[in-house]
Amino acid sequence: MTHDPRPTARLSADPAGIAAAAGLLRGGRLVAFPTETVYGLGADAGSAEAVAGIYAAKGRPRFNPLIAHVADLDAAREQGDFGPDALALARAFWPGPLTLVVPVGPRCTVSDLARAGLDSVALRVPAHPVARALIAAASVPVAAPSANRSGRISPTAAGHVLDDLEGRIDAVLDGGPTEVGVESTIVSCLGAPILLRPGGVTREAIEAVLGRRLADAAAGGATVAPGMLASHYAPRAAVRLDALALRAGEAGLDFGGIFVGQGGPVLDLSRRRDLAEAAANLFGHLRGLDGQLAGRGSIAVAPIPAEGLGEALRDRLARAAAER
Ligand code: TXA
Ligand code: MG
Repeated sequence: MTHDPRPTARLSADPAGIAAAAGLLRGGRLVAFPTETVYGLGADAGSAEAVAGIYAAKGRPRFNPLIAHVADLDAAREQGDFGPDALALARAFWPGPLTLVVPVGPRCTVSDLARAGLDSVALRVPAHPVARALIAAASVPVAAPSANRSGRISPTAAGHVLDDLEGRIDAVLDGGPTEVGVESTIVSCLGAPILLRPGGVTREAIEAVLGRRLADAAAGGATVAPGMLASHYAPRAAVRLDALALRAGEAGLDFGGIFVGQGGPVLDLSRRRDLAEAAANLFGHLRGLDGQLAGRGSIAVAPIPAEGLGEALRDRLARAAAER
């Protein structure tokens, strides 16, 4: 896919910057903006032309649908049909890092292209104040995937967005580093709820609201988020998981200080083994180590427990390590 090179404006996340960004979105342009999870690459979800720009800028396959970001549950119910499970989850976790896939509603304005032709729609109400102000000012659903080139590491700072997309998008709203650091949890509510992607809301929290266990996309077989390709979040370096010691030439992505004193460049996700801190650091540290290795060697990752936010961390790291 081709694209026109264009200057990318860096807007500050103040009222003037947000108003300028909203004007760009309303004009069909591409604007990256902070959410509490990662930076999103936004466009007017109702405009197939604007949405086509997202796929082109990212180099994203068009069979992979986008999340539509809306202001609140009422706005979400304009777009999709919420059954009792979806309603309970929306009420418990919105605004926040949860995306719900629901059947498309009769008044849905999210374009076919943003939904990749599916008869469902992925909806999210982000909590980040800049994202909320932008969506309110744009007053349209905002389609936004993570603001990285397809297959690369998701951006948790405006600088990461520019590293990948400078000259390919119209603007980035700089709201500083993101707080959660991994993407939203995606739950499909087309039938019995299915966890399509672990993320910023833990499985345990969702199961507590539903009052029952969540089925897994992998175990269920049939329904998978089309974007959950095995190789993803890929640094240039190879990635080795559950490492207990560094090998020669490896950089270490540590958790809890197990690589201390082993030599080699090491970044610790959380010295005190705090999974929220580790999630916030994950993508930035992967980028940092990848930069230090400059395309040579590999990254060894210390073991991370699988409970709570650890499930999302391990999911992203497994994709970073996948064959490509
Ligand atoms: O935290 C996040 O979710 C970030 C911020 C920007 O909101 N967004 C994000 O978008 O991670 P993206 O495009 O990188 O991931 C969205 C995932 C993809 O795997 C896509 O396949 C899935 O959502 N998805 C979207 N619509 C779907 C649908 N109707 N059915 C199943 N999966 C869907
Ligand atoms: Mg992504």
